[in-house]
Amino acid sequence: MSQKPEDFFKNIISHSKEYGYIFQSSEIYDGLSAVYDYGQNGAELKKNIREYWWRAMVQLNENIVGIDSSIFMHPTIWKASGHVDAFNDPLIDNKDSKKRYRADVLIEEHVAKIEEKIEKEVEKAKKRFENFDETMFRSTNGRVAEYQAKINEINSRFKNALNDGNLAEVKQIIVDCEIVDPVSGSRNWTDVRQFNLMFSTSMGSVAEEGNTIYLRPETAQGIFVNYLNVQKTGRMKLPFGIAQTGKAFRNEIVARQFIFRMREFEQMEMQFFVKPGTEMQWYEHWKEERLKWHLSLGLGRENYKFHDHVKLAHYANAAADIEFKFPFGFKELEGIHSRTDFDLKQHEQFSGKKLQYFDQEANISYVPYVVETSVGLDRLFLSILSSSYKEETLENGETRVVLSLPPALAPIKVAVFPLVKKDGLPELAQIIVNLLKFDHIVTIDEKDTVGKRYRRQDAIGTPFCITVDHQSLEDDTVTVRYRDTMKQERLKIDKLAKFLDEKVSLKSLLQLL
Ligand code: GAP
Repeated sequence: MSQKPEDFFKNIISHSKEYGYIFQSSEIYDGLSAVYDYGQNGAELKKNIREYWWRAMVQLNENIVGIDSSIFMHPTIWKASGHVDAFNDPLIDNKDSKKRYRADVLIEEHVAKIEEKIEKEVEKAKKRFENFDETMFRSTNGRVAEYQAKINEINSRFKNALNDGNLAEVKQIIVDCEIVDPVSGSRNWTDVRQFNLMFSTSMGSVAEEGNTIYLRPETAQGIFVNYLNVQKTGRMKLPFGIAQTGKAFRNEIVARQFIFRMREFEQMEMQFFVKPGTEMQWYEHWKEERLKWHLSLGLGRENYKFHDHVKLAHYANAAADIEFKFPFGFKELEGIHSRTDFDLKQHEQFSGKKLQYFDQEANISYVPYVVETSVGLDRLFLSILSSSYKEETLENGETRVVLSLPPALAPIKVAVFPLVKKDGLPELAQIIVNLLKFDHIVTIDEKDTVGKRYRRQDAIGTPFCITVDHQSLEDDTVTVRYRDTMKQERLKIDKLAKFLDEKVSLKSLLQLL
């Protein structure tokens, strides 16, 4: 079905509300901007994604362990990490529309548009020439070279401007690129200014001074400050990793696009501690591993690409994003950062405590380097939800909406339908539910025609429906219907547990890694 991407995205948002995936926070009070609640199916899907990440990190890697640190931490941690001074977004307002934007996002989107023009030229040429050599074409075609030069110039000016903290130059780039406000179409911009993203609150009596604490803007610092505790108590040897999932909070000013950018969200981060000098090798390793993890979800290779950072965060010596093709275009899904020894050194300095590792082989002590993988759980949820949502026209002309979620992540794994509400069929259906419920989330559905029940489960994303009919009473078989192909097969009831284990257990995904 062809429709505008924005309409398609709106359909996904309303579908996720209608089927208990995501609700606006505080909806009966007209909502709270950029904050969302997960409903009965959303909470399950989110839990399954988190669990898959955790097991892939902690269970499959003998040298990675997991922790759960607090949201509140000593305020000096955020001074040491650089967040108090440098965790800012450069903001700009359009005077006509009164809309506020992130200046860096405006520039990056402008660059992405030029990149799209290059891609179009490449695609055109691919169709025209046999034995097409893309690298040769990119380096010899005049128009492409012109576009590329423009991109390089913008990127280099932007990187220098941010490094120098030169906000006037950031504005000048927006002016020179003739970037217009997407709402008003005007170029009437204010100056660019910095805005700190951390939420703060007070601990203890409000009257006391110096009691400001922050809601953590990333989970990573909880790992850094526990690094020595874990290393010593777990007798960990380099290289080793510490993984953690948990809430993070950012006062995002430009918060749009549903759960893509939220003020309260969840991160899944892993800090991998390595010997200095080996960090680039591990950085490449984790880039590859994390892409492999995403690809195991089966959402399509074409939906992912790497984006190497032009402007590096204050702590990094290399960084890349894994971008995903969301309904509104390719955007950051996960970050892989080589954070050097910045964080541990800063914590050594601010706490006055040594955070060194004694390398027995080399007989020396040093502060390890760190390679980080950091993915937003909510963003991952959106990537899975949006690429699974399909509006299909069936052969009989009917439409069906189906969420073709990876079966191992689906909230409900099986729906059991007694064909009719009599003749002992509901009782047998309940026996099947009781048989399967210790391993999987199973539901029983007796209302409406079987066709309607299929549609309902398709929309929720339930990978298998089991129908119990009169034949079941005679030969202990049931019909198993596959969500994506709608094909059906008859299976013995005592084969169902093994069938489901193969198709919907997390093990089926973990084995792909
Ligand atoms: N510790 C490194 C760090 O926090 P980041 O690139 O700022 O790096 C990592 O964030 C990931 O967290 C992002 O790739 C994204 O998936 C997620 N994320 C960041 N801000 C978010 C927000 N406001 N809403 C939802 N997810 C967010």
